Amino acid sequence: MTPPIDIAPARGKLGVLLVGLGAVSTTTIAGVMAIRKGLAQPIGSLTQMGTIRLGKRTEARAPKIKDFVSLAGLDDIVFGGWDIFEEDCYAAARTAGVLEQSQLDQVRGELEAVKPMPAVFDQRYVKRLDGPNVKKGKNKRDLAEQLIADIRAFKSKHGCDRLVMVWVGSTEVYMKETAAHASVASFEKALEQNDDAIPSSMIYAYAALREGLPFANAAPNLTADVPAMLELAARTKSPLAGNDMKTGQTLIKTIIAPGLKARLLGVKGWYSTNILGNRDGEVLDDPESFKTKEESKKSALDYIFQPHLYPELYQDLCHVVRINYYPPRGDNKEGWDNIDIFGWLGYPMQLKINFLCRDSILAAPIVLDVALFLDLARRAGMSGIQEWLSFYFKSPMHAAGLYPEHDLFIQLMKLKNTLRFLKGEDLITHLGLEYYD
Ligand SMILES: NC(=O)c1ccc[n+]([C@@H]2O[C@H](COP(=O)([O-])OP(=O)(O)OC[C@H]3O[C@@H](n4cnc5c(N)ncnc54)[C@H](O)[C@@H]3O)[C@@H](O)[C@H]2O)c1
Repeated sequence: MTPPIDIAPARGKLGVLLVGLGAVSTTTIAGVMAIRKGLAQPIGSLTQMGTIRLGKRTEARAPKIKDFVSLAGLDDIVFGGWDIFEEDCYAAARTAGVLEQSQLDQVRGELEAVKPMPAVFDQRYVKRLDGPNVKKGKNKRDLAEQLIADIRAFKSKHGCDRLVMVWVGSTEVYMKETAAHASVASFEKALEQNDDAIPSSMIYAYAALREGLPFANAAPNLTADVPAMLELAARTKSPLAGNDMKTGQTLIKTIIAPGLKARLLGVKGWYSTNILGNRDGEVLDDPESFKTKEESKKSALDYIFQPHLYPELYQDLCHVVRINYYPPRGDNKEGWDNIDIFGWLGYPMQLKINFLCRDSILAAPIVLDVALFLDLARRAGMSGIQEWLSFYFKSPMHAAGLYPEHDLFIQLMKLKNTLRFLKGEDLITHLGLEYYD
């Protein structure tokens, strides 16, 4: 057992700044408001409903996570954010069409009070969108300073003790790391020079990290995962998490794949297709934004199956991912997976999964949990990449030279062991020999 880590108490208000007040954000905000009023349950949220086993199984100690570690309470959260559209959160939630009108009306006043600040936006990085609520600036450096001014103004206006920022904006086009991202110095020079290598999302991340805010990227775009951001996060002691929330089809993939591998069942092919009709689907209909998503969705299986260790089972796996924009479905996505597997002596079998899910309903508890856990990390003095939050992401951020952990069950164990470590409790290894001594 190691001594507990010193964690500053979660006193005062926590400002949660969301970049992009679209389907996911408004579902998160309206949900928290409804839960606060006792009108609904926080289903899917580990911070609100999850428990954690402590000590031996015979001790029967399993408190709720929120009673075990100090997390900001839902009543202490203040939401804010930016969007390229001027609609307040009530109107934006109606446009998104995820929650029922009657449910939105129960929290209408609170939702209408959340109005988007003008965004930093450049259509070059999200081709299918255009909106009026956009900042003008001399260059990208100037835009970053404007965001910093927004952050400070929000903090003082709402009397927040602490803030976190989450990018829940649209998926930007596929980008690769360049020399501009190599260090804080080169990044700041590139901001001055309006370098194309800096998409809007990076300007937000830079502003957050400069102010020492924890930052998470809920989308797959290249944002905080570059050396300049890691250097800045280390300098300002800001925790980071991302990328791309693990919901829907990829969530199911990372539940099924570790099971197949555990039983050494081979996989020849995995064909995944989706229909999706919300604004996210529309943005992903652009091939450049889709490429960002595709890369993020495809990597998980390779890491879970470890074909270099099990060439007979997974070496030639054919993995295809498709997303089709189909407006009639709105946010209610439908995904189909066809998995061609093989067993003893190579005999083939098939597994079909048809998931009729609701994207933003699966994503909202993740946004809430990540915001609360990042705030905890900051108060516990943990900075840089928070690998223990991989549980929530399709392309988890990880240290250079390490492969990311994609197995949902290992990720959950890592998350809970991190909480035990923070509180000076024994880590749980599941060895369990002591019960049979
Ligand atoms: N819902 C899920 O299950 C899920 C899972 C993983 C990732 N994501 C990602 O989360 C993001 C949000 O998803 P959504 O369904 O809410 O999409 P959405 O289109 O409803 O909302 C995105 C919002 O971001 C705004 N936006 C775009 N660029 C901006 C900028 N530079 N500054 C401020 N606002 C900006 C848009 O105007 C829009 O309102 C997407 O990138 C999506 O791919 C969603």
